[in-house]
Amino acid sequence: MKDFKRTLITTALPYANGPVHIGHLAGVYVPADIYARYLRLQGREVLMIGGSDEHGVPITIKARNEGVTPQDIVDRYHKIIKDSFEEFGISFDVYGRTTSETHRKTASDFFRKLYDKGEFVEKTSMQLYDPEANQFLADRYVVGTCPHCGNEHAYGDQCEACGTSLNATDLINPKSAITGAEPVLRETKHYYLPLDKWQPDLEKWILEDHKEWKSNVYGQCKSWLDMGLQPRAVSRDLDWGIPVPVEGAEGKVLYVWFDAPIGYISNTIDLVGDDYTKWWKDPETRMLHFIGKDNIVFHCIVFPAMLMADGSYNLPDNVPANEFLNLEDDKISTSRNWAVWLHEYLRDFPGKQDVLRYVLTANAPETKDNNFTWRDFQARNNSELVAILGNFVNRAVVLTHKYFDGVLQAAVELTEAEEKLIAQVKELKKEMSEALDTFHFREALKLAMDMARAGNQYLQETEPWKVAKSDMTRTGTILNIAINLCANLSIAFEPFLPFMSEKLVKMLGGDKITWDMLGCFDLVPAGAHIGEAQLLFEKIEDSEVEAQVQKLLDTKKANEMKAWKPEPVKSECAFEDFEKVDIRVGRVLECCKVKKSKKLLQFLIDDGTGTPRTILSGIAQSYEDPSVLVGKEICFVANFAPRKMMGIESQGMIMSAVNPDGTLTVVGPTADVQPGASVG
Ligand code: 2FM
Ligand code: ZN
Repeated sequence: MKDFKRTLITTALPYANGPVHIGHLAGVYVPADIYARYLRLQGREVLMIGGSDEHGVPITIKARNEGVTPQDIVDRYHKIIKDSFEEFGISFDVYGRTTSETHRKTASDFFRKLYDKGEFVEKTSMQLYDPEANQFLADRYVVGTCPHCGNEHAYGDQCEACGTSLNATDLINPKSAITGAEPVLRETKHYYLPLDKWQPDLEKWILEDHKEWKSNVYGQCKSWLDMGLQPRAVSRDLDWGIPVPVEGAEGKVLYVWFDAPIGYISNTIDLVGDDYTKWWKDPETRMLHFIGKDNIVFHCIVFPAMLMADGSYNLPDNVPANEFLNLEDDKISTSRNWAVWLHEYLRDFPGKQDVLRYVLTANAPETKDNNFTWRDFQARNNSELVAILGNFVNRAVVLTHKYFDGVLQAAVELTEAEEKLIAQVKELKKEMSEALDTFHFREALKLAMDMARAGNQYLQETEPWKVAKSDMTRTGTILNIAINLCANLSIAFEPFLPFMSEKLVKMLGGDKITWDMLGCFDLVPAGAHIGEAQLLFEKIEDSEVEAQVQKLLDTKKANEMKAWKPEPVKSECAFEDFEKVDIRVGRVLECCKVKKSKKLLQFLIDDGTGTPRTILSGIAQSYEDPSVLVGKEICFVANFAPRKMMGIESQGMIMSAVNPDGTLTVVGPTADVQPGASVG
């Protein structure tokens, strides 16, 4: 890898139209933070830039739905998002917003420079217009059927089902998301960035010069380039955004995807002022964009073309984009509330930020979509963080207190066990560095945990608790090495588990840590006072994860209810035909599950004749405890021909309603009715 003087890390700016969830953290912010912390540990010059994306249709739609202004929405969510990131230790050097004055000026100037250089093409075309709302329907203001996959809920800019980028006019049966009206076509003028002009430069830069990019990123770029790039509109007819800064463009704003990436520049300016040129224009600065896969085309093709058109900026050196994280085998979705929201996690698991960081990294969607489950969260906490890392540190510190009142003894005469451990740590450091340098964070975390595993093995092999019976010098040596390994772990884990690392450094009486120190065993000197053992991680109980799973099940149920529609009414039925069916009220005398059958319940019904009748019904899966039906009045069909099932004769059919989740509920009269009464 070419050596750079400094690194500029940008992280995708989340839309400030809702809180952030585990998918954001896993895909973008934790990996970026790991990398920034790793570089800082190496003493490298680094800036990590973040901020909220506060323009665009997702914001105005949310505002309209809530009857508030777009500014109210972004003020609310910018704060929630910023606070969540801070709580999770995402170490931004700046977290700005695209409604700032600096950004308005930076984005305006950027556009104006390109305009003055003649880099845009002005084109008049027919666009969708809502005649009821009297406005053009840009991007998400239109919904309709995706021409690629048939999804009926595709947006005007993208189909979330198949991931295809769309133009609003591509949609089949388009409808206005504002009024539901059928849009009409109306003429309007827009500014286009001719991506086709930059195709040869982009091809050389990506396909030839950046073969080292992750295959998902390289592959997506290649397929865009292979299709042939088209001019892309960078303005919109909207009233929320940065006004297009040229004469004759009244009522038009910059397209959100034009202004948002410029937000990285504005936020750098907010932080370092004129020095921003050092970070954006000096060829010795390396720029990295951390993003999710849905942002690849904007960061690898559109934004670089904008930077090329300007001509004075660096291009990104790498774009380590991640795939998506699913939640309990289902796609994370804001509209379906299928997510683990960070602010809710913090409320339910206070102080456990590192646990989530750990699980999301161990399971990071680096090469393919991955899945978060609460069971896995619990297992990784209990059997890795508690049982391996926490356990090792605890044993080393507790034994040092037990035998030496917390004072570290000198390491005298190292044996083969120590040599082996030290060599292992040095090798793990080398492998970790390689993994981190190439953005393989899952692998790097696994190697860090291997270091803690090596510590447990070392104590198991050397058994200081036995040696203490006869040789205190040797016991002192073993614990010196164990405590120094703890110091190594505080470094190796710092990028991943910063809160744990800080606690551990303090416990060991340390101060500043650096990557260079990793692999050294004189980090805590003999004579040092080690603090009392503090719990680094605690067990997560079944009840805690069960509560989270239940919350998701409730969400699923609520979604099903919302999406449920009654079945279409059957074709007409003559009254004489209806009259043939003899429906009666009966009282349930007994009700139990039929042995060896999963589905059948056996009812004994008082049908008013004096001789109770037996009816079998396939609803056992809807009634955990069938005895709840005893004493209830229900409706049944009395004149079906008797039928034998599981050796029992059924004399009728119990009537039940089908619920949205497929379960069945027995139906009956709304007030006391005499058993045997006809229903009709
Ligand atoms: O996809 C998104 O959430 C966008 N708001 C990301 C913008 S990244 C950058 F360009 F600002
Ligand atoms: Zn689609």
